[in-house]
Amino acid sequence: MSSKPELAASRPNIQFIDLAAQQARIKPKLDTAIARVLAHGGYIMGKEVGELEKQLSAFCGAEYTLSCSNGTDALTLVLMAKNVGPGDAVLCPSFTFAATAEVVALRGATPIFLDIEADSFNIDPAQIDAGVAEAKARGLNPVGIIPVYLFGLPPDYARIHPLAEKHGLWVMGDAAQGFGSEIDGVRAGNLTYVTTTSFFPAKPLGCYGDGGAVFTNDKALYDTMCSIRVHGKGSDKYDNVRVGLNARLDTLQAAILIEKLAIFADEITERQRVANRYSAGLRDVLKTPEVPANMLSAWAQYTLVAESEAQRTQIMERLKDTGVPTMIYYPKPLHQQTAYRMHPTATGGALPVCEDLANRVFSLPMHPYLDDATIDYIIAQVRAAI
Ligand SMILES: Cc1ncc(COP(=O)(O)O)c(C=O)c1O
Repeated sequence: MSSKPELAASRPNIQFIDLAAQQARIKPKLDTAIARVLAHGGYIMGKEVGELEKQLSAFCGAEYTLSCSNGTDALTLVLMAKNVGPGDAVLCPSFTFAATAEVVALRGATPIFLDIEADSFNIDPAQIDAGVAEAKARGLNPVGIIPVYLFGLPPDYARIHPLAEKHGLWVMGDAAQGFGSEIDGVRAGNLTYVTTTSFFPAKPLGCYGDGGAVFTNDKALYDTMCSIRVHGKGSDKYDNVRVGLNARLDTLQAAILIEKLAIFADEITERQRVANRYSAGLRDVLKTPEVPANMLSAWAQYTLVAESEAQRTQIMERLKDTGVPTMIYYPKPLHQQTAYRMHPTATGGALPVCEDLANRVFSLPMHPYLDDATIDYIIAQVRAAI
């Protein structure tokens, strides 16, 4: 890799995600919140857990919020509550983090991989009929679909919902990257039957460890998940009415999240500023991310598409030499991964859109504390590389 001395000399210190800047903004509040938990000692299911759930429901509009151990367990809690198991099939996009399909396979069910739409990076609703047909042809029972809010953008529910209804599929939105996003002013968490999110530190709303949540308006689903979250408890935790999990959110993480949620709406606005400035400076030289007029992205990532794999390598090398960190999300779609390639695709074979994009996408630094001068520096380096 070329590391040119004249470029290295002026390398700025740019973070891909700057959690320290956010912490500096609310440090006294975090310290007080953490000290409060240490003082009362209710480390498991302390009062902050219920308080956070109430505040998350108020934020997103979902009637019921169930906090939990991480975004992967959030998906699993729903699949267990819906009794998903061997013989069942669940439609998922192939271009996502492994957890989306992992939970399906872990239940002994079969993920059916669908391609994505090039402009949104999200699941292609036009493949739902084929995905359902593929499941049935294999003697499987298609039960649900997990659209993902990739890079923070909501899925195209207006097209997904009628097709899901036609085939009798439940819809679970995987908003691990998309909490804070909106369609027509309605926030993720209240856009479909059930929604999950992750509070992994790098997510738009992150804690200082692992955490997650499930949002729904279905009381029966919520009650079942409450039981599964604590070892399948019945009237109390020593009354076990089903096989469950230990999937609780720590009180300390809840206390931290309460402080972060207080500035979250402002941070989402700042993320729009960053994304808009990137797009204004780059859309004449590269394919920039598109957000439909009625949607708001949570901008977990700002992802560009190079003309070719070679051009992507050239840009990423120049950025590395000039102190700009970049990442590739994702270098390989799930239907091509060793752990998942035995599972069917909606087409019965290749998924050309995500296979092509995996070779050309790359993401720039994205967080609410990127100042305009740093954004302009990054834009200038990308332009200079092309
Ligand atoms: C799309 C998607 N789903 C699920 C997860 C899992 O979340 P967690 O890491 O909190 O288990 C992630 C996290 O990276 C994700 O990006």
